[in-house]
Amino acid sequence: MNGLATVTRGGFLALLAVLSAAPAQPAEQKDPAAAAAPAARPGPPSPPPPLTLSARPNAKGGERLYVQYCGMCHGKGGMGTGLLARRTDRPLLEERNDLTVDYVIQAARTGIGNMPPIPRGEVSDADIKQIAAYLTTPKARGGR
Ligand code: HEC
Repeated sequence: MNGLATVTRGGFLALLAVLSAAPAQPAEQKDPAAAAAPAARPGPPSPPPPLTLSARPNAKGGERLYVQYCGMCHGKGGMGTGLLARRTDRPLLEERNDLTVDYVIQAARTGIGNMPPIPRGEVSDADIKQIAAYLTTPKARGGR
């Protein structure tokens, strides 16, 4: 009886020792680098930044106008790209080879689906034509 009680107390003390030793050496204190840069918080990856001229400072002509007026929605991660991904397998307008000048101008002027119409006061006829010409220039690679 007494012997059993001693063994049990001994086991209990050993367990206590293990439990109290564990927090004394937390994993992040073993590696100072890991402590300085804690692991990224779990969650969805952040979306790519919107396409703006700062990403393409050397863009000219139709490309420049496209980035300026359409890039915020039609760049990677843009809402136009996101919605077009639901109904085309090439959601980036710049990668397509099936767009026509008339279609691009019509979509821009009247709006299409969730895309709002873009009025002349915002983008002139001359600028829309340059954008449409840029988007319909045959792509050397990757496009269709
Ligand atoms: C406010 C965001 C926004 C802007 C700015 C925008 N678009 Fe869009 N665009 C969309 C969305 C969203 C769609 C998808 C519409 C849908 O299917 O519901 C779309 C679709 C299109 C399509 C149709 C593609 C297809 O396969 O049918 C064309 C063409 C287009 N946009 C051209 C342009 C051009 C050119 C500009 C700049 C002058 C522009 N868009 C600016 C949001 C935008």
